[in-house]
Parts: sequence; C-alpha cells; structure tokens
Amino acid sequence: MSVKKVLASAPAKIILFGEHSVVYGKPAIAAAIDLRTYVRAEFNDSGRIKIEAHDIRTPGLIVSFSEDSIYFESDYGKAAEVLSYVREAINLVMEEADRNAGVTVSITSQIPVGAGLGSSAAVAVATIGAVSRLLGLELSNEEVGKLGHRVELLVQGASSGIDPTVSAIGGFIHYQKGKFDHLPFMELPIVVGYTGSSGSTKELVAMVRRNYEEMPDVIEPILESMGRVVEKAREIIVSDYDRGVKFPLLGRLMNINHGLLDALGVSTKKLSELVYAAKTAGALGAKITGAGGGGCMYALAPEKQSEVATAITIAGGTPMITRISREGLRIEEVLP
Ligand code: PMV
Repeated sequence: MSVKKVLASAPAKIILFGEHSVVYGKPAIAAAIDLRTYVRAEFNDSGRIKIEAHDIRTPGLIVSFSEDSIYFESDYGKAAEVLSYVREAINLVMEEADRNAGVTVSITSQIPVGAGLGSSAAVAVATIGAVSRLLGLELSNEEVGKLGHRVELLVQGASSGIDPTVSAIGGFIHYQKGKFDHLPFMELPIVVGYTGSSGSTKELVAMVRRNYEEMPDVIEPILESMGRVVEKAREIIVSDYDRGVKFPLLGRLMNINHGLLDALGVSTKKLSELVYAAKTAGALGAKITGAGGGGCMYALAPEKQSEVATAITIAGGTPMITRISREGLRIEEVLP
C-alpha cells in the first residue's frame, strides 16, 4: 500500500532523577507523561519541505507559523528553535531512506516549549515517526529514539539522548549512555510546576561543562553523588516496599537531588520558591525537572496533589497534574 498521509504523536517527559549528571555518563530515571505533540506528514507536489505549526505553546501564548514566517508572534527564538528540530528530523529520515520528496509536515502540540518537558524531543520523535512511515521506512520506536538523539546532537551540540529515548519508548525508564531499561510501571502522584519562563538546555549544559572543566575536583563529586541518588531511587522503585515506604524515601532523594542541582547552579529563585511552596504544602519531595534555569519543577505529593497545586499557584507558578504515559511514539493514522 502506498501511503499518502501519516499522523504520529509523541509524549512529553519528566526527568525524575539525574538530569545534567546523565550528560556525564551517570544514570538517570525519566518517565513519559500524558501531554503530546502531534505531527502529520504528507506528500506535496512542490518537491519542497514545508513545515506548518499550529498551537505551539510557548510561555503564556500560542504561536502559529508556517515555514519561516511567524503569524502570531510571541517568542520568535523559541518557535524558530522548534523548526530546527523538525528540519533536522526530516533531513535525517530522508538520508536514512535515501530518498528526497516534497513533504508537508504540520505540528500541533500540547507541550509547553522550553519548559523542560521535552517538547523538542517530542517534536523530533513524532516527526521522525510520521515521515519515516510516509517514506516506507520501517523503524522500531527504539530506532526512532536513536535518530531523535542524533537530531538533538545536531541542533544542541550536546545531549545525553534521554529525552528522545523516553519520548519514543514511553513508560518509566532507567537510562545510561544510550542504553535504557524499563522500570516497573507505577502511578506517581506528582504535580509539575511551571515557572512560566524557560531556560536554554544548550546554555545550561554548556555552563555546567565550563564549571566542570575549571573545577573538576569540585564538580565531579557532585555528579557522582547524583549518580548514586539515581541508583538508590532505582533500588527503591524496583523493591517490593509498599507505597507508604517507597514514596517518603523517593521524596527524600528528590530533595537531595534538588540540592545537588542547585549546587551546580541550574536552579533559579522562582524554581526554589516553587520547590519550597510544594514542600510546605505537604509534598514528600520536590525538585527541578529538566535543565533548570526556569522551566519546571515537580513534587511528589500522595493525597496532597490539589493542596500542592494551590501552593504552586500562590507562589506564582502554573501547576499541572499529569499522569505517566505508558505509550511512547504512536502512529495514530495512516492514509493511503
Ligand atoms: O531539555 P530538558 O530541559 O529536559 O533537559 C535535558 C536534560 C539534561 O540532562 C539537562 C540534558 C541532557 O541532554 O540530558
């Protein structure tokens, strides 16, 4: 059957433990969440690549653009950044398929851009999923995740690959140096708090790198400690402790991980305020998720999700009560 149109979707993610240290080969734990980016790919007769984006969420606004012109301008920089992930994703798939064709890609996203929820990885993964299927390339979700990592390396320069991997695979994963395994699925009573501003993953990763190169003897033990936090968290997650034991232990590890991220210099006043507001409202633990410098934090708050959400709002953040998504990349529709 020759395919004319494909709709694919890929989820956002949160890093539960181990952001930044994962770039240095330490392990990390991440989960897909139930916010998605949808990408429709179809052939066109112009022989060119066209990109249309609808509802790309940047802080507080929705941007629409087509190719290079932004129709409803909010933050050109961020919208343009999304374009570069989509472009590289299409180029890479065409290279893999050894084929050039006129393709129109339309994007709709529920994931805020630049919030540390993996919007770039989700758009790259959904684009690779849709375009590869359109061109008749059979790729497993794992292979799509690997191509997503290559897209991140091309656009960002440095990336551990955790974001595209979890977006492609879905569920709950332990990740280290390009390899992942699934952790047992469990519902986590979390609240994500969005600061409303975004940090640049590329700049934050570069800032940590500079510190590491200038003071390796100081920074390396912090990264090492983060790796140990992750391994301890993994032990607790796979243990047969019940939730009443697991959650308080995980909460304590989150607080330690947050302190270590703060020591690396990636927290902000706003992130700290949301973290403390959540803990004061009864969360067992709270930490940055993603690169920091703005973006999001998350709190573990069994039986206290609505109190913590209110506290985050009062502290000036936007709360999101999300669920873990078992599914990663999904082909929604294939039209002949
Ligand atoms: O893009 P974010 O904000 O989810 O951060 C990615 C996580 C980092 O560890 C900071 C970078 C990486 O490539 O793993």
